[in-house]
Amino acid sequence: MLVELHSHFLPQMDDGPEHAAVSIEMLAIWRMQGVEKVAATPHYIPHREPVNHFLTRRSEALVAMAGVAPLEMEILLGAEVLIEKGLSETEDLQLLAIGNSKHILLELPYFPFKEWMLEEIYGIIHRFGLNPLLAHLERYTKWYNDTDLARVLSIRGATFQINNDALFKMSTRRFALELVRGGFPVVFASDAHNTDTRPPNTKAADKILASKLKTAEWQALTERNEDMLGV
Ligand SMILES: [Fe+2]
Repeated sequence: MLVELHSHFLPQMDDGPEHAAVSIEMLAIWRMQGVEKVAATPHYIPHREPVNHFLTRRSEALVAMAGVAPLEMEILLGAEVLIEKGLSETEDLQLLAIGNSKHILLELPYFPFKEWMLEEIYGIIHRFGLNPLLAHLERYTKWYNDTDLARVLSIRGATFQINNDALFKMSTRRFALELVRGGFPVVFASDAHNTDTRPPNTKAADKILASKLKTAEWQALTERNEDMLGV
């Protein structure tokens, strides 16, 4: 089953769609690609709002979408949580896990690796019993050296998400496939934000993975994706 773990389709939540009609169109594209379950993971920026405020906005966004057209897709609610200093002390952080799972999508900040980032991640694991899913790891290779990357990749219980569009460029495709072949717990996701510049591309990525990987490797990836969403 094709599922989508990381996406920004809820209207007016973040830098995803402004209008609910576009949100509905994004779901239709996923449906055409054969995707059966989509996790909504709007950006959550801890210093901007408390968790309960975010959750209210997220519910309202879903209601706004449902008011435009029927939601013909199984949707799991989550968030893409920016790692900031003090994140592991955030009240009710567990409510941002995807659906009923223990997986929480975390976004490392866009600057060089710092020790406190690991401390926050381990704090989240221990305090809340959550499993970190680290968003678009391929983006950080320009800031992280091999040692930094190795430390992130050694976080026990973590899963590493790569954006599908990394498979469409040779340099990042190599990085992504090396992680998979190296046996790291990797998943791929669209991180879609709209219908044109950052569209749902789950099927196209799956085709590349099916053609480039051994059958067992590809099946393991598919199963990991499904497991994350409790399929
Ligand atoms: Fe994202």
